[in-house]
Amino acid sequence: MTAKLRKIAFIGAGNMTQSIVGGMVRSGYPADHIYVSNPSPGKLEAISSQLGVHTSQDNAEVATAADVVVLAVKPPLMADVCEALRKAVPAISDKLIVTIAAGIRMPKYRTYLGDDIRIIRVMPNTPSLVGKGMSGLVADDRADESDREFIRSAFDGVGATLWVNNEDELDILGAVAGSGPAYFFEFMASLQKAAVVLGFDRDKARQMVQQTALGAAEMAINSELELEDLRKQVTSKGGSTAKGLEVYQGADINDISEQAIKAAVKRNQEMADLF
Ligand SMILES: NC(=O)c1ccc[n+]([C@@H]2O[C@H](COP(=O)([O-])OP(=O)(O)OC[C@H]3O[C@@H](n4cnc5c(N)ncnc54)[C@H](OP(=O)(O)O)[C@@H]3O)[C@@H](O)[C@H]2O)c1
Repeated sequence: MTAKLRKIAFIGAGNMTQSIVGGMVRSGYPADHIYVSNPSPGKLEAISSQLGVHTSQDNAEVATAADVVVLAVKPPLMADVCEALRKAVPAISDKLIVTIAAGIRMPKYRTYLGDDIRIIRVMPNTPSLVGKGMSGLVADDRADESDREFIRSAFDGVGATLWVNNEDELDILGAVAGSGPAYFFEFMASLQKAAVVLGFDRDKARQMVQQTALGAAEMAINSELELEDLRKQVTSKGGSTAKGLEVYQGADINDISEQAIKAAVKRNQEMADLF
């Protein structure tokens, strides 16, 4: 990590926090600048012994110690957790607030924590758990360039980061990248089932599907060609791939994806009203 050092506290020691903190420490961020809180002690003991970070069962204690507070609890708990922090940590509004919770928009955090907070919302996705995440980030106007650089650098430890312009765009990123792994798993599972129907056992079918997905993703990442052109490169006119693609195109795969993304964006917007 190249960003200037700050003390950073994570409220909630769940899967995401463990991945992000692990990524930061592996990237060279000093563990003694990282604080983690959680109500039950088991996760704290594990993260402390594995990564050497400070831990506490008291959210206010870690938030008080830090310059940056990352809210990493489930959305239904967010209001209570923030309101307790506001009561117990008078300086909370001076700290950079970062939230990874899906769905909750910035104005809600201002209601919970104060009108003047600097806030950055991050939408990571599940592959962050294996260091291959795609995190979307959006900052409010009060967060400055060094705030943005610090958080980008922290989330680079679990994959790639992409700034978006506003929270509507974050909803779209959530629908594509947040929900995307589920779409890819669904598609991969359908290819696996097809191979099984034609006689392969599940293990062999899975191996051929997962390795093909990995290879295609690597090619897409490493090539400057458009995805359409990469597709054309493996599609000889009149060949077997062309025949298979005709079936997908006959079902209008572009329209299916557009409908799926629109449905997920709509749900993201509905969820913004829930918490
Ligand atoms: N996982 C993903 O792929 C993903 C992707 C995008 C966004 N997110 C967001 O990231 C956030 C965390 O997700 P996660 O997957 O890491 O969830 P998780 O594994 O369930 O972690 C949540 C943690 O919060 C702790 N917690 C509960 N009450 C608390 C309190 N009052 N104060 C402090 N900590 C408390 C829980 O502790 P106990 O278990 O001890 O109760 C748990 O360790 C959620 O808001 C989620 O929407 C997750």
